[in-house]
Amino acid sequence: MTSSTPATPELLDLTIDNITPNTLRINAQCPSPRLRYLMERLVTHLHDFACETRLSTAEWTAAIQFLTRTGQTCTDVRQEFILLSDILGLSLLVDSINHPKPPSCTEGSVLGPFHTHDAPRMASGGAMSADPTGEPLLVLCSVRDRDGRPIPDVTVDIWETDASGHYDVQHAERGAPSERCVMRSDEEGKFWFRAITPVSYPIPTDGPVGQLLQKLGRHPWRPAHMHFMLEKPGWDHLITAVYVRGDPYEKTDAVFGVKQSLIVDLEPIDEATASQYGVDAGGKVLRQDFVLASEKDTAELRDKNATEALKNLGLNMKLVDHLPVPDLD
Ligand code: BEZ
Ligand code: FE
Repeated sequence: MTSSTPATPELLDLTIDNITPNTLRINAQCPSPRLRYLMERLVTHLHDFACETRLSTAEWTAAIQFLTRTGQTCTDVRQEFILLSDILGLSLLVDSINHPKPPSCTEGSVLGPFHTHDAPRMASGGAMSADPTGEPLLVLCSVRDRDGRPIPDVTVDIWETDASGHYDVQHAERGAPSERCVMRSDEEGKFWFRAITPVSYPIPTDGPVGQLLQKLGRHPWRPAHMHFMLEKPGWDHLITAVYVRGDPYEKTDAVFGVKQSLIVDLEPIDEATASQYGVDAGGKVLRQDFVLASEKDTAELRDKNATEALKNLGLNMKLVDHLPVPDLD
């Protein structure tokens, strides 16, 4: 070791009073400013949490066992950690920080753990549900920019449950993907398809997250909804869902995903619409116009929000690659 290389701090005789600064000191060797900052805040909040709650050894053990069970519950088609993030409100918070919406743009909602990457591509007019027990629903959509101009060639992932309130991946014997598809908006920014009317359903309760909800005295229900994910280079990736008005769980969603702007009315299909789309009159139609923000507008808004939030917190920070790190200059 040369005389200019800082010595590794010696970590001896650590106590309640000096464990926090010493943990921060050893982590301060991290060469990445962003990871250093994330760990500095994480350790500080974790240690404060333990001190403020006088965390018992039994509680610490229970938390470790809970997290272990959460990991063990994850499979290729089940993500219990995302579910945990969802019921803690973290998923909604992270999405809101990263994808702020300029005025008039469609708001985001939670992704949830049931999106898959094997949904079949489908042309407009196709049926994305094979469930004969579901109530047929015609879905007519468009994608536009903030000035009302159509956006063609947007890739749109759509997924919903079957009429029993289960996603295909929740069935023990999953055959081909069902109640999910990938579409593309046409030259007029439009796409349309046949689906079934969404139903409310409980998030999985047979794992550690379900047990936690029960201990918290919370119900596990999500109001009836259909998921949409819209992607096109140059446009901010939109993960959202539309919620059917009047659902009993509209205001108490277990994962905090409902925004008033995403609540839609299902209307009866009139004769003209029925014959235009070749479906039965008297059924229901869902009309949804998505408004995308450009990547540039979103990045500018995200930076502005970050700068304001850090200023309000009295922190001396700068943005590097659009993420805050301490400003040491
Ligand atoms: C869903 O809507 O698919 C979902 C979202 C969060 C947790 C569980 C399910
Ligand atoms: Fe869902």
